[in-house]
Amino acid sequence: MSSATERRKQVAQLFRDKFGAAPELWARAPGRVDLMGSHTDYNLGHVLTVAIDRDTWMAASATGNDRVRLYAANLNAEDCFSLASIGRSRSNKWSNYVRGVAWVLAGEGLRLPGFDAVIHSTVPLESGLGSSAALECVAAVVFRDLGGWRMERERMARLCQTAENQFVGVNCGILDQFSSCLGEEQCGLLLDCRDLSCRRIPIAAGIRIVICDTRAPRQLSGVEYATRRAQCEEGASRLGVSSLRDVSPQAWEEHAGELPSTTLQRCRFIVAENERVLRMAAALTAGDCASVAGLCADSFAGARDLYEICTSPMLGMMDAMLGAPGVIGARQAGAGFGGCMVAFVEEEQTDSFRAAVTERYRESTGITPEIYSVRGAPGAGLVNFN
Ligand code: GLA
Repeated sequence: MSSATERRKQVAQLFRDKFGAAPELWARAPGRVDLMGSHTDYNLGHVLTVAIDRDTWMAASATGNDRVRLYAANLNAEDCFSLASIGRSRSNKWSNYVRGVAWVLAGEGLRLPGFDAVIHSTVPLESGLGSSAALECVAAVVFRDLGGWRMERERMARLCQTAENQFVGVNCGILDQFSSCLGEEQCGLLLDCRDLSCRRIPIAAGIRIVICDTRAPRQLSGVEYATRRAQCEEGASRLGVSSLRDVSPQAWEEHAGELPSTTLQRCRFIVAENERVLRMAAALTAGDCASVAGLCADSFAGARDLYEICTSPMLGMMDAMLGAPGVIGARQAGAGFGGCMVAFVEEEQTDSFRAAVTERYRESTGITPEIYSVRGAPGAGLVNFN
């Protein structure tokens, strides 16, 4: 679907086909890409993120009862559950993100209306751009607006994270849900994951953010993600701090040598990556391309050698990105283990960059990648059709 108008028409038609009327409300929530700060969120550090102009829509109408009926257009799948007793679905795993949000909101004592909804997403699924969070956040907006209550965006982000942690069972940090709820048009966000304070980071004119999707299936990311998290927690506890965010250079100097070698590697990456986030925010705003290049290179080297989250298609993509015209810097994105990566590219070279990366990556891996530029988009809310 090309434009928002076309997309609206098609989703409205699907809604009519499934539920026999026009939807009363349109909500959206964006995906995200991290520009610096891999795995720093659950270490309560900093992360530089941008909510992107690819989003998940829900066209919805209240039903006046306690049933939620969902149609996921991308998957051509339906699901239905009762708000009176919210259990997990085994066959429709995607629906657990909506069920989880309902479960958490109900636990907060909020009024939850039943509704019918068509879900349509332009965030590619399972590719590391926060599609799960986008679905959680758009569901929260629909419950809020049909339920007639208000909620601060930070709290909404936290509750959606709780849904993912406790209902879906993925122990993620706050990055994805925060980005989706608090995104800003044309801007990156510098987020402090400890207290959720956040600063808008304008990106210098002439620099484009380009997603390079390896389109290689993400490998073992669930298990590996949990292992990385446990290793960081172990490191923090051995260093005598509650999170790696709090390791001082002096404590690091004195005690890092006592850590077991893999734990040391993981912690070394996080401590340095957290530092890089602040420098990256300054470099991107100033248009300091040399620093962007250096910070991205260090981040990727650490992800590959210390945190060990880079798969072989990611190495192929990194080569392709770094060899393409107009590249300023490039690195991993999301949790790693495949999925999307991100490049910073000179605006006027974006098309040549795309063509060169596509050709080179295809040659080395046999996979056709997807390459597209994104810009900062507003956080979850009602769809603005202009
Ligand atoms: C996934 C998680 C996030 C974050 C990133 C890595 O996207 O959902 O919370 O930990 O990985 O930075």
